[in-house]
Amino acid sequence: MRQSEIAGVGHYVPARVVKNADLEQLMETTDAWIQERTGIQERRWFEEGTDTTANMGAKAARKALEMAGLTPDDVQLIVFATLSPDYFFPGSGVLLQRELGLKDTTPALDVRNQCSGFIYGLSVADQFVRTGMYDTVLVVGSEIHSSGLDKSTNGRNVAVIFGDGAGAVVLRPSSRAGHGILSTHLHAQGEFAEELIVKEPSSNRDNRNERMMENKQDLYPLMNGQNVFKHAVVRFPQVINEALAQNNLQASDIDLLIPHQANLRISQFVQQKMGLPNEKVYNNIMRYGNTTAASIPLALSEAVQEGRVKRGDLVCLAAFGSGFTWASALIKW
Ligand code: UT7
Repeated sequence: MRQSEIAGVGHYVPARVVKNADLEQLMETTDAWIQERTGIQERRWFEEGTDTTANMGAKAARKALEMAGLTPDDVQLIVFATLSPDYFFPGSGVLLQRELGLKDTTPALDVRNQCSGFIYGLSVADQFVRTGMYDTVLVVGSEIHSSGLDKSTNGRNVAVIFGDGAGAVVLRPSSRAGHGILSTHLHAQGEFAEELIVKEPSSNRDNRNERMMENKQDLYPLMNGQNVFKHAVVRFPQVINEALAQNNLQASDIDLLIPHQANLRISQFVQQKMGLPNEKVYNNIMRYGNTTAASIPLALSEAVQEGRVKRGDLVCLAAFGSGFTWASALIKW
């Protein structure tokens, strides 16, 4: 069976930079607390009227297509991962299709797996390319968190972490034997669904629109940070080791690990557990915060731009987040 490879990667972030000092004006927090607990120095917040989840995704997608030497018309399938869609329905995939000016022959699939959404989407796209159903698949992760955060002291454990941004890759059949996506590994554990959640709007409540404001707190993300952290530091190494074992490889074979940018402390813990030196782990959470489904393609795009990924390198992507869901992908670049 043929393999797929990442032929292009791109990203877009809103222009507005929000520093930790800016958050100090909104809630009881400090730059020192945020940096010490998360490593984050600043993040981007969208501008209403300029940025949408779909158009940010489209901007990242255009760059990815350009790098691949392709045009939007070449795209045969869109896979769009986000937890912050433009609408409750339809999903942002069709809006991206419209943004790119594509015809009705390009279907759009929406993925709802939060921080693992990009790798879940990549896995789906990989299967379509492997089976020969499609040759060119766009995988997009895009998020606008800032419009839905509780920016009072009440929501500070979540609000300081999340940021806005987008990233995209183009998958094509691999032209070199043994190169491309080697394998993807997906997991879920629904018993922890409420550990990181936005409860409203919920279809489970009759007259939901009328009742949505009854408990305003449920409109905001709720996170049991310590428990998420505890599970993350176990699941990340597990799913990376699973990918290595399947391919008869070892941690020392990894040239670059790109962990989902959840918290710099989590990334550092995973790095230590995997025994990887600093130069083999890519982090940009310092500048963007946690952008959930966008975080891995955003980091991959910057890593490629900075020359951190070379032809033949073994690149490992790994994610953990709400659901809980977690996932990894191993790529021979
Ligand atoms: O994308 C994947 C999903 N998300 C994650 O992976 C996040 C995982 N969890 C985390 O990153 C960490 O749990 C946090 C960064 C969210 C919190 O760090 P922590 O070290 O676990 O802090 P904590 O929740 O144990 O809170 C410690 C203290 C509390 O005060 P008291 O009860 O000790 O007086 C909090 O109220 O820090 C307080 N606190 C803050 N203080 C200043 C919580 N948020 C803030 C804040 N600024 N922003």
